[in-house]
Amino acid sequence: MKNPDWRKIKLAAFFLTSAFFVIFYAGLAFSESPAKEAEEKPAPPEKTGPFEGFTGIPGAKYVGSETCGACHEKEVKEFQRSTHARINIPSEAVKAQGCEMCHGPASLHVDASGGKDNIINPRKDPNACFACHLDKKMEFRLPYHHPVLEGKMSCTDCHSPHGEEVRPWTATTLHGVNEACFKCHKEQRGPFVWEHEGIREGCTTCHKVHGSIHEKMLIARDNNLCLRCHTQVNFPMIGKQSHAGRLPQGSCFSAGCHTAVHGSNFDDHLRY
Ligand code: HEC
Ligand code: HEC
Ligand code: HEC
Ligand code: HEC
Ligand code: HEC
Ligand code: HEC
Ligand code: HEC
Repeated sequence: MKNPDWRKIKLAAFFLTSAFFVIFYAGLAFSESPAKEAEEKPAPPEKTGPFEGFTGIPGAKYVGSETCGACHEKEVKEFQRSTHARINIPSEAVKAQGCEMCHGPASLHVDASGGKDNIINPRKDPNACFACHLDKKMEFRLPYHHPVLEGKMSCTDCHSPHGEEVRPWTATTLHGVNEACFKCHKEQRGPFVWEHEGIREGCTTCHKVHGSIHEKMLIARDNNLCLRCHTQVNFPMIGKQSHAGRLPQGSCFSAGCHTAVHGSNFDDHLRY
């Protein structure tokens, strides 16, 4: 028998023990990691207000909407039929419901029979709404948007926080949503000699009013916007005219053709 090659054996033994320790420690680390993580995770910050950016009233407790009626009859009455009045969060952790889901716990305010420093008034701050509608924040970050995050206007310019019609588009007439817009955009109201029937279905048939990737907050950037309603079987006939030569020149409204999409006083084909 040859002499054993001690160098090779030592080397093999070294590798084996190393491998053992690697596996051993890996196993140890693995089994330990969840416990360690839990230890190192900082305790969640104490919730001080109903939503980010607002410090709750220290020491205040939730008292329920019924309490508010005695002094805020108008808001309570208005609020009864609102979507938000029907929200019921079935969790002990979130007691905030009714009025207090936006105004925070109100016991101190009630005990003091009113006051301004013992209750949250979100005023124009959208964070009160983002607490639950966080997805809307993303919409207002799209390239073309109403300047809500910039603080130039607020959710409550278009949505009534207490009213039955938190949605501006539930008004009894089709003009409901449009009225919400005319407050600031008077030019689009008309009356026009030649009205565009496409407007009657509401501004939101063409505009994504929170925000859009298209200029002027349009739902589509090009002719597709108009062709949603104006395609005909004999396309490219639109109305009584062939648009075969016109469509490639640009969009229906920007190529100098139907520039007055909201209505015109000069031309029945909606031109300025
Ligand atoms: C969806 C959120 C929300 C709910 C729910 C809500 N409010 Fe408000 N409330 C607001 C906002 C936002 C304002 C500030 C409006 C503004 O300044 O434009 C406000 C303002 C107020 C004001 C001050 C009014 C003023 O003229 O300055 C009172 C009082 C009030 N709310 C009471 C109530 C009562 C009572 C309830 C329940 C019946 C209630 N709110 C439910 C969001 C809410
Ligand atoms: C006992 C009467 C009373 C009760 C009950 C009461 N409030 Fe008030 N609240 C007042 C008075 C008075 C004011 C006006 C304070 C002022 O102008 O100084 C007020 C003001 C407010 C404001 C506006 C504060 C501001 O900064 O402008 C809000 C919001 C509000 N109350 C919400 C509530 C909510 C929500 C409840 C029920 C949980 C409630 N109140 C219950 C009397 C009451
Ligand atoms: C405590 C959570 C909560 C807060 C705070 C809150 N909302 Fe809502 N909101 C809801 C839920 C839940 C619904 C119903 C489900 C839905 O349509 O997404 C709703 C529905 C709506 C709707 C659709 C209403 C309908 O009839 O379809 C609008 C508009 C709205 N909220 C606006 C607001 C505005 C503006 C604010 C801030 C002033 C606000 N919300 C604050 C939870 C909240
Ligand atoms: C310029 C007016 C305007 C502003 C400002 C505005 N909204 Fe709206 N919002 C509307 C209109 C109009 C609709 C209906 C859209 C539709 O029917 O296509 C709507 C729909 C909604 C809805 C229900 C439908 C949906 O898209 O889920 C919620 C919730 C809502 N808005 C929340 C908010 C919040 C939160 C803010 C502020 C951060 C806000 N809105 C600011 C006009 C506005
Ligand atoms: C409280 C006022 C206010 C209300 C209400 C309002 N807007 Fe606006 N709107 C603005 C402001 C401010 C701008 C930004 C203007 C700017 O950037 O120059 C704007 C911009 C726009 C633009 C883009 C204009 C451009 O030249 O790019 C459109 C489209 C628009 N709004 C449609 C609507 C519609 C549709 C509604 C109703 C759902 C509405 N707005 C409600 C204030 C308002
Ligand atoms: C049939 C589609 C359509 C409808 C419905 C519509 N718009 Fe427009 N709007 C457009 C188009 C297209 C533009 C861009 C025009 C351009 O770039 O020349 C525009 C632009 C705007 C602008 C920017 C200023 C301007 O005239 O270029 C505002 C503000 C506006 N719309 C508000 C409204 C309001 C408010 C309503 C509801 C009354 C409404 N729009 C309904 C298609 C529409
Ligand atoms: C929501 C549906 C709808 C949309 C979107 C729409 N329209 Fe219309 N439009 C109508 C209706 C309905 C009429 C009236 C009936 C008709 O002439 O087809 C009309 C009429 C017209 C007319 C007058 C036609 C004539 O012969 O007098 C023009 C021009 C017009 N639209 C241009 C546009 C342009 C440009 C766009 C895109 C910015 C557009 N429309 C988007 C529904 C729509």
